[in-house]
Amino acid sequence: MELLNKLTQTDSPSGREKAIRDIIVSEAEKLGFEISYDALGSIIAHRKGAGKKLMLDAHMDEIGIIATYIDDNGFIRFGSVGGLDIKELLKRRVRFENGTIGIIGSEEEAFNEKASVSKLFIDIGAKDKEEAEKRVKTGDTAVFVGDFYCDGDIVISKALDNRAGCYILLKVMEEINDSENDLYFVFSTQEEVGLRGAKTAAFSIMPDYAIAVDVTDTGDTPSCPVMDVKMGKGAAIKVMDRSVMCDITTINVLREIAEKNNIPYQTEIMADGGTDAGAIALTGGGVKAGGVSVPTRYIHSPSEMASIKDINACIELLKYACAYRW
Ligand code: CO
Ligand code: ZN
Repeated sequence: MELLNKLTQTDSPSGREKAIRDIIVSEAEKLGFEISYDALGSIIAHRKGAGKKLMLDAHMDEIGIIATYIDDNGFIRFGSVGGLDIKELLKRRVRFENGTIGIIGSEEEAFNEKASVSKLFIDIGAKDKEEAEKRVKTGDTAVFVGDFYCDGDIVISKALDNRAGCYILLKVMEEINDSENDLYFVFSTQEEVGLRGAKTAAFSIMPDYAIAVDVTDTGDTPSCPVMDVKMGKGAAIKVMDRSVMCDITTINVLREIAEKNNIPYQTEIMADGGTDAGAIALTGGGVKAGGVSVPTRYIHSPSEMASIKDINACIELLKYACAYRW
């Protein structure tokens, strides 16, 4: 889990993916893939083949915040980069690119019905604006602090969304052997702000089939909304989320592969949020797209939790998908 630890603990919010990109590229280069980038910064790792063009995608950005204004007393107002739940932000630590740590505080009325991120601020302990600006400037980004912890089958960290997906893709790249397909592994940017990087990357590839790998919600904690996905019960094969109706051939092929090879799997219909699969599906004249997801609790918090068995099931499933004659 050393690699997953390194991937999750690298700070790279949407639009500021350089740090994570450097790590992924150095891993991908070791595996002999041809690497290119598009203008939005996504990584496209290619292994040529005579078969169908298959694109596997995982977004490499994470949610975060951006400093928008620093007041005279040195408190930093901020905007969200990606979907943040305001109720969960209070007293969290955030880390800026230069290592500065701040605590999220709130005005008194922050938690009434009109709750809004505009009532929150980041406190870096500066005595005034001048001192604050030596450490943080308007436009600087930060991410949650959330240590990596791993015990038995359980892993907890910030940014499992979606470094778990990046880890899965790198493992598939390492372990595939005989595939005739023309394989593209995309590590996309800016998913958390609107599925942006996957769209341009898919346009430059125009694959026959695409599979987006990401985390998904679970329905297995006390009185949570019902959902037929549980942590520890296997790879989640996506059927639908708010951004996509998955291609039926892709769904069926993934199910067939899982059945045939005894890979634990479950069916995912995610009520909230979209994924890169949605953006890829709507690229060019359309792309047949599906998704494989890691069941994850507490998504978009500093303490996302997942099962290593599930992550490994995703790796197995996608290895077979790469070798499959689509
Ligand atoms: Co996310
Ligand atoms: Zn994600």
